[in-house]
Amino acid sequence: MAIDVSEIQTVEHDVIVVGAGGAGLRAAIECSSMGLNTGLVCKSLLGKAHTVMAEGGVAAALANVDHRDHWKVHFRDTMRGGKFLNNWRMAELHAKMSPDRVRELEEWGAVFDRTKNGLINQRNFGGHRYPRLAHVGDRTGLEIIRTLQDHGIHQGIEVYMECTALDLLKDGDRISGMVAVWRESGRFIIFKAKVVILATGGGGKAWQITSNSWEYTGDGYCIAYESGAELMDFEFTQFHPTGMVWPPSVRGTLVTEGVRGEGGILVNKEGKRFMFKYIPEKFSPETADTIEESNRWLAGDKEARRPPELLTRDVVAKAIRDEVRAGRGSEHGGVYLDIASQRSAEDIKRKLPSMYHQFKILAELDITKDPMEVGPTLHYFMGGIRVNADTQMSNVPGLFAAGECAAGVHGANRLGGNSLSDLLVFGQLAGIGAADYINSLGTAPAVDNRQVEQIVKRATDILNRESGENPYLFHETLQENMQDNVGIVRNEEDLVNGIKKLEELKKLYSKVKAVGTSQYNPGWDEALALRSLLITSEAVARAALIREESRGAHTRLDFPNESDEWQNYNVVIKKRLDGTMEVNKVEREKPSDDIYRIAYSTLEELEAEVAKEME
Ligand code: FUM
Repeated sequence: MAIDVSEIQTVEHDVIVVGAGGAGLRAAIECSSMGLNTGLVCKSLLGKAHTVMAEGGVAAALANVDHRDHWKVHFRDTMRGGKFLNNWRMAELHAKMSPDRVRELEEWGAVFDRTKNGLINQRNFGGHRYPRLAHVGDRTGLEIIRTLQDHGIHQGIEVYMECTALDLLKDGDRISGMVAVWRESGRFIIFKAKVVILATGGGGKAWQITSNSWEYTGDGYCIAYESGAELMDFEFTQFHPTGMVWPPSVRGTLVTEGVRGEGGILVNKEGKRFMFKYIPEKFSPETADTIEESNRWLAGDKEARRPPELLTRDVVAKAIRDEVRAGRGSEHGGVYLDIASQRSAEDIKRKLPSMYHQFKILAELDITKDPMEVGPTLHYFMGGIRVNADTQMSNVPGLFAAGECAAGVHGANRLGGNSLSDLLVFGQLAGIGAADYINSLGTAPAVDNRQVEQIVKRATDILNRESGENPYLFHETLQENMQDNVGIVRNEEDLVNGIKKLEELKKLYSKVKAVGTSQYNPGWDEALALRSLLITSEAVARAALIREESRGAHTRLDFPNESDEWQNYNVVIKKRLDGTMEVNKVEREKPSDDIYRIAYSTLEELEAEVAKEME
């Protein structure tokens, strides 16, 4: 059947932001505050975004709880957590700008927990030297979304909810818009735009055990890749150490690091606090801090800041995996997270209300009395669309990305709480970058109807074929493959098998069939998402295969150490003209001398420097 493009609903904006989590909202606010006509498109309901999964706090060197904190220490912690693979400039901007972005949220109405002196309260989190996470109990992400949403709506941003992005449109090299589909009616919509900002989060739904909800299928990665954008650092997928393991229906649901930040300890089935055994041997100031603080803990000092439970997520997740594999796991294949023996019931209910309710309702467990069972869960992508650090623009003119959707700031491993500050800082910068790009644009880009026809045909083919593969079963097979072959630890044999299976699935995808019509058809939605999941999964598996070392969240059993050579490279992926995936080892940009010095200085040197600056 011929497609009549003139019949398709068409709207025009200067900027289309895709994704209404923190990064998307912050970018849209910035664009609209600069007078740009801004549309915000989200696959789900406004406010239902993974930002709420960052429960324990937003990291910013406000120095409200420990006056020694400073952007330089935050920057140094972020680089160390990221195993020095972070984009230098992004990590610098992030640490410098986070405090202002948090204070701005407060001005816009966010109600943070307070210190006794009435300042924004901050708590400990893994890898952060000082209590740095500004928080709202264990609902920080939710409060941030609420605040940004209120602010954005009052600014006149036009919101398109339950609308799934299908593909980008281009005029020559430049972005000219996007085609999407309304989930309810199944009708298509053309967005004409000079700029598209992707803020679609990650792709955790490629794995079986994940904290991610149904929306996180890597859509932004896929449509950016298809339009010629480069992807970077896909081998670095973060397994959060503590997801629920029981009951099976909620396996993977996040248990905030805030539980450990508030003093929760990890214990195996023998009742042993095992994390002391897993403090990395390689000497580093981070390790030294941990040993010193751990010894204080052991000596009964409850004020000690850095027990080994707050080592970086990669270390804790692998330690839990090892305990379980050694037969010392909990009843349902995790370990125990015990806050009940460390804090009063009153404290727990006040500081961790969501965790209290989550376990009460979902697991019939009272965390003020009994330990939780937890295990690693795929939580976050450090990799994403490769962008310019200052503008957030990709290599495709007019295409920007921010938040989890973009690569760079977190390197090989993200510190908890840095995701919320990332999305605020880079959401704003993407908005500014978009405005600058539009101002420099000559003629407005035009929409090519043939591109629209192709996108619509590709989507409707899934409904129109007579019979074919079931999209739900397809998704399960893909998840099983990623869990088994591209999991928390990897080796060449598994990765090669994983890629082989993905190649088979790619061929099969052209036979996927959604039964029914286009009106509210979850099977069709699922089938459309499979394309994104396939590209996301392939990018992770191929990047993991080429990086022959272990660094941060990427562990290769066949290459167990960090390699000095790989320290200098990112893995960059792009689509070849023949449609296959090209994977390249690309040399990293060099930092300025001063930034390099800060990252590698000892804590004592940096503390002395900061103290002098503050005199
Ligand atoms: O554990 C948490 O609250 C998650 C925080 C984050 O991923 O930043």
